[in-house]
Amino acid sequence: MRAPTGPRRGCSPPTVSRLARAVAGSAALASMLACSTLPTPAARAADLEAGRRQAAAACASCHGLGGNSTDPRFPSLAGQQAVYIHWQLILFRDNRRRSPEMSPFAANLSDAEIANLAVYYAAQAPQPPPAAPHDPDKIAAGQRAFERHHCVSCHAAAFTGQQYAPRLAGLHYEYLLRQLQGFKNQTRAELDGTMTMAAQPLTEQDIESLAYYIAYGLP
Ligand code: HEC
Ligand code: HEC
Repeated sequence: MRAPTGPRRGCSPPTVSRLARAVAGSAALASMLACSTLPTPAARAADLEAGRRQAAAACASCHGLGGNSTDPRFPSLAGQQAVYIHWQLILFRDNRRRSPEMSPFAANLSDAEIANLAVYYAAQAPQPPPAAPHDPDKIAAGQRAFERHHCVSCHAAAFTGQQYAPRLAGLHYEYLLRQLQGFKNQTRAELDGTMTMAAQPLTEQDIESLAYYIAYGLP
């Protein structure tokens, strides 16, 4: 039997409505994410060593060595989903996702460099976050909100992420807060609106407890 060469049957790029339905059923989501159109041919041919050199020269001053950031302003990239990193760099380069600090570093990246950086960071081991405050009531409230809003169906248990739903483990409280507020206020650009939609029912209180739970609640 010949191996299939074309796109797998039943696979098509995700759309907001398919994602909306997927929120209700993680099996549907898992199959949809398995059908993701990335990695691109460029990503398959990515050169991890070239990614490592470029990351050390251009990115480590903010994102930390090996992508483990110790500064709450900068998100960690170690162990992040390669497909997610890839898309975010394209969004920054296209000036759709904007940050005065980050945008200049994405502006001139080639597709091949983006693919190399994505596979490099995805392959780095995440370090455990530094000692953190621990308020059991706030963590419990965040956990309830996480379950109520089905965050786990996309971001997976232990916040590891899957495909282009990012890993959340290791992200700083301040960063999480800002991104969730951005999705809720529809100012954080994203690939296809999935996360903006997921953030609409969240109250400011939910956002605070979710960020607290994700940042400090992992056992
Ligand atoms: C001057 C500091 C700085 C440098 C240098 C920098 N970044 Fe960033 N980066 C940021 C900040 C700040 C953000 C978060 C922006 C926001 O709030 O949306 C970010 C976000 C990102 C994200 C999105 C992470 C996520 O979880 O959504 C990726 C991917 C990324 N940077 C990759 C890189 C790469 C690759 C390089 C090197 C080519 C680089 N960055 C260089 C500051 C920097
Ligand atoms: C239907 C799937 C889905 C659900 C449900 C979902 N997310 Fe997301 N989330 C995504 C995707 C996809 C992205 C990446 C968006 C982009 O930038 O393209 C994302 C991005 C994020 C980010 C940004 C991370 C970063 O590195 O910048 C945070 C934080 C987040 N989600 C938290 C949550 C929380 C908390 C919940 C529950 C209230 C939730 N998500 C529910 C799919 C989902």
